[in-house]
Parts: sequence; structure tokens; C-alpha cells
Amino acid sequence: MSNPIKLESKNFLSSLDTSYEEFFRILEFAKNIKNKHLNIQLKDKVLGLIFDKSSTRTRVSFQVAMSRLGGTTVDLNPTTSQIGRGEQIRDTARVLSRYCDVLAIRTFKQSDLEEYAKWSTKPVINALTDLEHPCQALADYMTIKEEFKDFKNVVLAFIGDGNNVANSLILYGALLGIEVRIACPKGYEPNTLVVDKAMQIYKNKNLLNISNDPYSAVTGANVLYTDVWSSMGEENKKEKKDKEFKGFTLDTKLLNNANKESIVLHCLPAYRGKEITDEIFESKNSRIFEQAENRLHVQQSLLAALLS
Ligand code: CP
Ligand code: NVA
Repeated sequence: MSNPIKLESKNFLSSLDTSYEEFFRILEFAKNIKNKHLNIQLKDKVLGLIFDKSSTRTRVSFQVAMSRLGGTTVDLNPTTSQIGRGEQIRDTARVLSRYCDVLAIRTFKQSDLEEYAKWSTKPVINALTDLEHPCQALADYMTIKEEFKDFKNVVLAFIGDGNNVANSLILYGALLGIEVRIACPKGYEPNTLVVDKAMQIYKNKNLLNISNDPYSAVTGANVLYTDVWSSMGEENKKEKKDKEFKGFTLDTKLLNNANKESIVLHCLPAYRGKEITDEIFESKNSRIFEQAENRLHVQQSLLAALLS
């Protein structure tokens, strides 16, 4: 049984804030927590949650994670705190880090998250930004590892918008040396800085493929992943995107083109009939609810690592 690791990085703002070894330790630790082989105590520790966007899973899994570890959570609603009134991030961060032991922040710009981290004396966790969703990616790769035992033969095909979820999957894919294929409509490719960073990590291994062809992306893949076409903050683009993403629905035809043993993942919330059909969502290939459960286990592991 392993002890909690101390992460080299003070914060968890990106998938790349864990090294290869730290990633595996977090997953191993999460597995032990899940199997109830560990009893970590973070008694009297307080997690502050700042959510500028809606959340069900991230908010609740962090609250339950802290409660199971013996600590507590303070949920700061931007509209009823001074955050929504425009108090500067640098002031909020300096005050909250005198009360809380760790902060989990969901906001729009990655640069705002970085500003919190710069001024906070306590660890800051990315609970989703427009650029990344690394807590989600940790749970995703935990789910993939549970299914396939290791990452050797994993080929992950992400069909849809090259968004925050895709970016974090790409970065961990590069760190782990996994083949990742992204198929999105033209103009919706993942962030170029993320892609460049991933290419550097992959070195000359040609394992990241970005295309506009969902059929070739799923051929031979064993993990099929999708997410909403319009992310939070893109509500005004919904109509346009719904049209432009036609042909990118994860459906039976795509699943039949993939490896027979494929699993289907979705970070949720899902819009059935848009990015995924109800049939695939509810199919035997779906590991969507295992994936959602794993948010709780990886986040307990992450909190232990950041607070130890
Ligand atoms: N997957 C995810 O982050 O869900 P929430 O938006 O409900 O937190
Ligand atoms: N890409 C989605 C993920 C939701 C968990 C969004 O940012 O809204």
C-alpha cells in the first residue's frame, strides 16, 4: 500500500502539473481509496470552492471527497460573495488562502486561474477552465486503466469539439505515450499551444492525429470519447454549432467501425441525440457512470497528494 505522494508542483492547473510517475501514483492511490484499502485523514482541512460556471459532478465529488477525508468544504457562490462584484482575484486569493488549505476553481480563462494560483499561498486546483479540465482527464484515464489494465494498446478517439476536455486528454495522452485521435469539424480543432506542447512530449512518435473524419478516427480505436458540442460560455453559438457538428454524433455506425471491445466515455452532462445517441449512451460499451464515479476517487487522491 502506498503513501500519499507529495506533488512536485504546488498546484494542479493542467494535466502537465503531474509527472509520469506522479500520475501513476495518483491513480494507484485512487484505486486503493476506491477499494477501501486506505484511510487518509485530512481532519480540519478546508477546501474552498469557487465556481464561476455551473457544476454537478465536480462540485459534489469535491465536497464528498473532503468529507470522506475528514475535512470540510466552503462553497463560495460568486453571486453571493464579493467575487461577482468584481473584487480583484489577487485580493480574493490572498484572503481565502489564509482561511482555506486548498482551493478548487472553475472559471473561464486559464489566465484567471493562474492569477489565483500566483497570489494564493495554498494549492489551487483547476476544476475546469475554457482551456483544460485535468481532474476530468485523471478520472478518464483511471477508467481506461481499469478496463484495459494498462495503456499499452489503448487508442483513444475523441469525436466532437476540440475543447477543454479534449485538451486535457491530449496532454495526458502525450505524457503516457498513448495514441490519441481527435475528429472535429473544421475550425474546431484543439488549442494549437496544447497540440504543440503534446507534440514536443510525444517527441517524434506520431501518436497524435487531428482530423475532420470521425470514421477514420474510430477505426481500430478502443476508447471512444465525446463531449458537448457547445461548452459553458458558448450558449450563443449553440445553433451554429449544432449545424456544423452534423455527422459528428457518436452513434452505432461509428461504434461498429471501432474495435469490438471498445468502451464509450462522456464526461457529462450529455445531450442525447446531439453528440451521442441514446442507444450508445445506454449501451453495454458505455463506462460513463464508472467514469463519473472515478471523479470522486481521483480527487480524494489528488487532495491527499496536494495536502500531504
Ligand atoms: N464532468 C463535469 O465536470 O461535470 P460537472 O460540470 O457537472 O461538474
Ligand atoms: N466542455 C464542457 C465540459 C463540461 C464538464 C464545458 O466546458 O462545458
